[in-house]
Amino acid sequence: MASFVVLGAQWGDEGKGKMTDYLAEKADVVVRFQGGNNAGHTVEVGEKQYKLHLIPSGILYSNKMNIIGNGVVLDPKALFEEMDYLKGLGVEITPDNLVISDRAQLIMPYHKVLDGIKEKVRGKKEIGTTGKGIGPCYTDKMERSGIRVCDLLHEEIFEDLLKENLEVKNDIITKVFHGEYLDFNEIYKEYIAYKERLKPFVKDTSVIVYDKIKSKKSVLFEGAQGTLLDIDYGTYPYVTSSSTIAGGVCTGAGIGPTMVNQVVGIAKAYTTRVGKGPFPTELNDSTGDWIREKGHEFGVTTGRARRCGWLDLVILKTSARVSGLTSFAMTKIDTLAGLDKIKVCVSYELDGKIIDYIPASLEDLARCKPIYEEFDGWDENIKYAKHYSDFPGNVMKYLNRIEEVTDTKVSIVSVGPKRDQTILLSEI
Ligand code: GDP
Ligand code: IMO
Ligand code: MG
Repeated sequence: MASFVVLGAQWGDEGKGKMTDYLAEKADVVVRFQGGNNAGHTVEVGEKQYKLHLIPSGILYSNKMNIIGNGVVLDPKALFEEMDYLKGLGVEITPDNLVISDRAQLIMPYHKVLDGIKEKVRGKKEIGTTGKGIGPCYTDKMERSGIRVCDLLHEEIFEDLLKENLEVKNDIITKVFHGEYLDFNEIYKEYIAYKERLKPFVKDTSVIVYDKIKSKKSVLFEGAQGTLLDIDYGTYPYVTSSSTIAGGVCTGAGIGPTMVNQVVGIAKAYTTRVGKGPFPTELNDSTGDWIREKGHEFGVTTGRARRCGWLDLVILKTSARVSGLTSFAMTKIDTLAGLDKIKVCVSYELDGKIIDYIPASLEDLARCKPIYEEFDGWDENIKYAKHYSDFPGNVMKYLNRIEEVTDTKVSIVSVGPKRDQTILLSEI
């Protein structure tokens, strides 16, 4: 049995797409278990760059099964746009390489409208969501009024559910928020057309994942977002609406915790965040700007500039704890090349006390002062490294300190966006 999880250890955009693609070479199945098309995962192979949102990052191999699990919120419009985009890049999607859970929740047009309206109403307290309808869709799931993929496959059930939902949503949109009324027929027609295209891909994916693991196939679970965007352990309410930590794999793919062997936390050599919310090591200065430009830190899904700051080991420690990480994959070590000095936050000072966890209250977190250690930098040649022995001593020191403080080994180092710019330090 070999099953492993790749998840974001920070605020998303750590390089999960790249690492999933790299590790997928040895996998038979790649599974998305939460989130939706709020994710933007970049994979670079040769001269080509692929931007994936909903479709798992194993799709670039011709012989892998990719699964969109029940924990994902699925926007059929976005899915088909992504399929067409990939087809344009020479990647054919068929029921042989993509399977979609019959239990996945559907993102409906009113979810997207409500996402926008709610952000407006929050005013200065806006979360800075991706506007893809993620929060409102998960709200309906938990409130038990959501519409699942299996419901769409039964036209009469879908019709009833859409009518019930739309009546309530139209009241909220028009009467509470003075927005525009949504037409039933238009949505119904649009989704029934999706149904025909979706049908061949739909199966009970929990059964497939279980059987694959039992028959000794290798299964890779690809997380979206990151630990600090988790609905429970993130910087609430500035989070996404799903379980981005390892626990989310069980509920979002339909397997038990005893079936997961390894959990790899993907972490950038520095920290970024897109959207609002606290960020203790943020650099609102020329170094922050330098990292953003050098690392091309602009969102894949929304194009927004990402906020940049030093590596925060309190965050990595939190990720190691709440997801039981077996190792880290450190990415973008090459981006820091050229800096004379590099800082790393090893703990926080809160009201005179040293702490190594993230306080639940954002007011407390705002008072946390990062405690830094300073490291000497390294040069651009790092992007050509092929083995650990190619690393300059200063990179080794940096990696050693990360392992020491987080009590978690670094198993992979990424020194560039391409598949072959990856150095495996220990077998996964
Ligand atoms: P994800 O959401 O975690 O998959 O990450 P994104 O794709 O949103 O952002 C990561 C960005 O960094 C993408 O543009 C990747 O191509 C790029 N990337 C990944 N790993 C590395 C690396 O080691 N070095 C450099 N320079 N770029 C990387
Ligand atoms: P990947 O998988 C970075 C952020 C948004 C916002 C918050 C809530 O590429 O790492 P949502 O639309 O989910 O309700 O937005 O979460 N966010 C991400 N930030 N990477 C992502 O995905 C993100 N997905 C959502 O910016 O702050
Ligand atoms: Mg991303």
